[in-house]
Amino acid sequence: MENKIKIVFATGNAHKLHEINEISKGSGVEFILPPKGFDPEENGTTFEQNSYIKAKEASRLSKMISLADDSGLCVEALNGEPGIFSARYAPTPQARIDKLLANLAESGNRRAKFVCAMTLVDESGNILTQQIGECHGKIAKNQSGTNGFGYDPVFLIDGYDGLTLADMSEEQKNKISHRFNALNKIITYIQENLRV
Ligand code: IMP
Repeated sequence: MENKIKIVFATGNAHKLHEINEISKGSGVEFILPPKGFDPEENGTTFEQNSYIKAKEASRLSKMISLADDSGLCVEALNGEPGIFSARYAPTPQARIDKLLANLAESGNRRAKFVCAMTLVDESGNILTQQIGECHGKIAKNQSGTNGFGYDPVFLIDGYDGLTLADMSEEQKNKISHRFNALNKIITYIQENLRV
């Protein structure tokens, strides 16, 4: 049987844990949820800082090597907004999309990217590695698709001929997403440095 290394993934979201374990299938790494009571205050000013805050809290509670991510949408014409405020841009997922489309209505530049920062810390909360994954595209004029979450229905990904991330299957998105790109770099670090 494969001898997997267990690492805490700093989230309270079981769906996100499932997605991370799907992406890392066959890598020799298994991610598990943090202990009860995990509820850090994400008060950093960058994706990197917020992912570090979450990873450090997970390692403090678990005394295990821990990984955290922080992600969001950065729109060129809005000076990188909503950025780290992506989840708090408006009260509901649909209101967030409506606000984004309204704010871009007059703009000729619809370029945007999803960013995912990941921080891996040791059992004492010291940073082992930090990695960034990105996914480039533009914001559609109208939303399309029902898969995924968040801003997926208005994100037209480069190279996929007018498809939004919400038009794609979860499997397809998991092969190209910002989270996939960041996690691949983390898995490589783990395999090279933590004797999987
Ligand atoms: P978190 O890093 O999971 O807290 O995500 C922050 C917010 O960024 C989410 O609530 C979404 O609004 C947005 N976001 C992050 N990743 C994605 C994605 O893959 N698709 C759509 N929206 C995303």
